[in-house]
Amino acid sequence: MISEKPRVFVTRRLPQEILDRLNSHFEVDLWDSDFPPDAYNLREGVANADGIFCLLTDRIDAVVLSTAPSLRVVSNMAVGTDNIDLAAATVRGIPVGNTPGVLTETTADFAFALLMAAARRIVDGDNYIRAGHWKTWGPNVLLGRDLFGATLGIVGFGAIGQAVARRAQGFSMRVIYTRRSDAPQPLGIEATSVSLENLLREADFISLHVPLTDETRRMIGSREMAMMKETAIIVNTARGGVVDQTALVAALKRGRPAMAALDVTVVEPIDSQDELLTLSNVLITPHIASASVVTRLRMANMAIDNLVAGLSGVPLPNCANLNVYQR
Ligand code: GLV
Repeated sequence: MISEKPRVFVTRRLPQEILDRLNSHFEVDLWDSDFPPDAYNLREGVANADGIFCLLTDRIDAVVLSTAPSLRVVSNMAVGTDNIDLAAATVRGIPVGNTPGVLTETTADFAFALLMAAARRIVDGDNYIRAGHWKTWGPNVLLGRDLFGATLGIVGFGAIGQAVARRAQGFSMRVIYTRRSDAPQPLGIEATSVSLENLLREADFISLHVPLTDETRRMIGSREMAMMKETAIIVNTARGGVVDQTALVAALKRGRPAMAALDVTVVEPIDSQDELLTLSNVLITPHIASASVVTRLRMANMAIDNLVAGLSGVPLPNCANLNVYQR
């Protein structure tokens, strides 16, 4: 019997309650693995799909879209959509869903956790003990940097950047930020808008919160790093591509900035032989800023909401290419 339900290709094994919800709405083709499908299997998977439930590890480019003639909606379980060719989807009239809002506070918590861990050398301390170096309390052991009174520069003052700023206020930090000129004026946050150049020169800590686009790719390169204080600590929970990673390695070796705390890298996962991993002034985590139990379930449910809407022919509650509706 032919199912009446729309067909959805799901690119990863998901929690059972999410799969149950997907199955209640759709005929699900599940890529039943903890790893993403390769390019061939992705194209095979989408060939008969009306909708795709994908992750930021899946590259949904014009070729993938062209192999899916019945495709009506792409739903990314992420706020960032740099893995999807939005222009190609728009030309095809395909709305692309994403998951803003639900991960804002969780991601801001993590950016702040990285900032604190780097400033106060928490991972160094843990490694120090495990390596058997803790012999006594020492006046010079593992000295870090204070947050209070320091200047935090936030690059990109959207929802996540502002959530980081609110945390910084609680730590008595001075907050400066850059934002898109057309972004609405943030309310209720004591923070000063400055040029990127001034931010790089003045900040003790720099936290990146811009999406990866043609304008932001490698926006932090060797020129920008040379403007930073020698003591600066840079935190990236946005996208690896926002930073010129080759320039970052060179800059960290020279000691300006002093340290980088990264949740994202240009290529993910980073190669275990990558030079970045040989540096002691790098703290690195595997793209987990939104990874809390509750937030990941909310993201998955939001991605389903987008699919349900798109496959019922109504506008997606969260759409990354809104101009698709103006065609
Ligand atoms: C995570 O990086 C996301 O874009 O949701």
